[in-house]
Amino acid sequence: MSDRRGQVSWEHVPEPYRAKVIESIRLPSKAEREARLREAGYNPFYLKSQDIYVDLLTDSGTGAMSDAQWAALMLGDETYAGSRSYDVFERTVRDITGYEHVVPVHQGRAGEHLVMESLVKPGDIVLSNTLFDTTRTHVEQRGGLPVDLLADIAWDYDHPHPFKGNFDLDKLRAALEHHRGRVAAVVATVVNNLAYASPVSLDNMRSVRELARRFGVPVYIDAARFAENAWLVTQRQDDQRGRPVADVAREFFSLADGCWMSAKKDGLVNIGGFVAVSDEHLADECRQRLVLYEGFPTYGGLAGRDLQALSVGLREGLESDYLRHRTAQVEYLHDGLRDAGVTVCTPPGGSGVYVDVAALYPHLSPEDNPGITVTADLYLQGGVRMSAGVFELTTVNPATGNLVKRDFSCARLALPRRVYGRAHLDHVIGTMRKVLDGAGGAPAYKRVSSPRVLAHFFARYEPVPPGTGSRHSVP
Ligand code: F0G
Repeated sequence: MSDRRGQVSWEHVPEPYRAKVIESIRLPSKAEREARLREAGYNPFYLKSQDIYVDLLTDSGTGAMSDAQWAALMLGDETYAGSRSYDVFERTVRDITGYEHVVPVHQGRAGEHLVMESLVKPGDIVLSNTLFDTTRTHVEQRGGLPVDLLADIAWDYDHPHPFKGNFDLDKLRAALEHHRGRVAAVVATVVNNLAYASPVSLDNMRSVRELARRFGVPVYIDAARFAENAWLVTQRQDDQRGRPVADVAREFFSLADGCWMSAKKDGLVNIGGFVAVSDEHLADECRQRLVLYEGFPTYGGLAGRDLQALSVGLREGLESDYLRHRTAQVEYLHDGLRDAGVTVCTPPGGSGVYVDVAALYPHLSPEDNPGITVTADLYLQGGVRMSAGVFELTTVNPATGNLVKRDFSCARLALPRRVYGRAHLDHVIGTMRKVLDGAGGAPAYKRVSSPRVLAHFFARYEPVPPGTGSRHSVP
């Protein structure tokens, strides 16, 4: 595989671990796959685990824990209040982030809920490079408006910029000036999940901090994949090469007032998360809500054993051997798909590989739900599950600060951590090759049922001839 940017390719990065426990998987027959997909209403979220061969739906909570993490489970102190496990967890999070106040939650969106209820009031704006969909929905539920400030090149799959996850600083300045008094917070999502998991540079983060400070606006980090971001900074930012990843991560945190984290990603656990902030008042507000929604502040929706496993996982997630392999694995999949002729976001980022579905199916319009076409095709051809979504973002015109709407679609093959090997990835690449071969004859999909919020999790579809799909129609 390629050796661009002077990185060692994955061919030279064998797994820095070996298997101690295994979980069987099987490839169902083509007839079974067709039946299961039809039963699932062509929505990959309705497929069942036992019917999937390689599951790249998400990298969230799907990783494998280490022996040290399994051993740590046994140390769990399940005391309701004042658990020892909380003390271990608090020390770890303080050490990694530098924030004084640590509030455990069961997963990222619970943290978003606590923070947004404290920060956002109706009419407020939350500025970000790009908010994840649950985060944006939490802002909207408070009557606020999420505004995403990516640079336009971020949407270009082929643009070689190493930090496509960055804030566009002109847009940020324009938004802060134009909407002065309404901006509740600036949020940096690292890596930037919806923007093809592209990283944010340290320089960009420093400028964001500086601008936000000038306007008196607090900065928070959505830290779900903070370790992958810090690692990519050490690989791509010349003045950061060779710097310990934990130091880079710590500097990112020092440029914000707090963070929330879905620890199901870089925390290397199957469930868990936290809010960590420097402001005692905000921490108190979060803790009061925590008791209502999650649990007492020394366990917050988790068992003591979860806190122990997470304390180990957060440190393992910063190890350079692990991160080198992880990002090289993403790169291997990226290179394999690109070499097969699929347009993927370049350069690859953290959690997975993002496919340009419009390029894959030029005969389908956005109304035809081509994201559903690719997820269905990939499952039918090889039992591989991926995800796709369409999002309506609000951004700003950098010249005027005026708000502008834009649609954007995103189809992702996310890699679970420490789960699949190279032969699995070769199977995915081979399957995608078949998808590409048959792409010209692929159907459109019509939405036949849908809920009010976060529709892509729950909608059902049926195949229809190209040109007759209808993204929003529901009988
Ligand atoms: N922030 C980011 C950047 C995320 O990617 C996610 C989840 C969350 C917050 C919410 O965290 O799931 O623990 O409640 N992303 C998953 C994904 C679901 O597949 O990308 P959660």
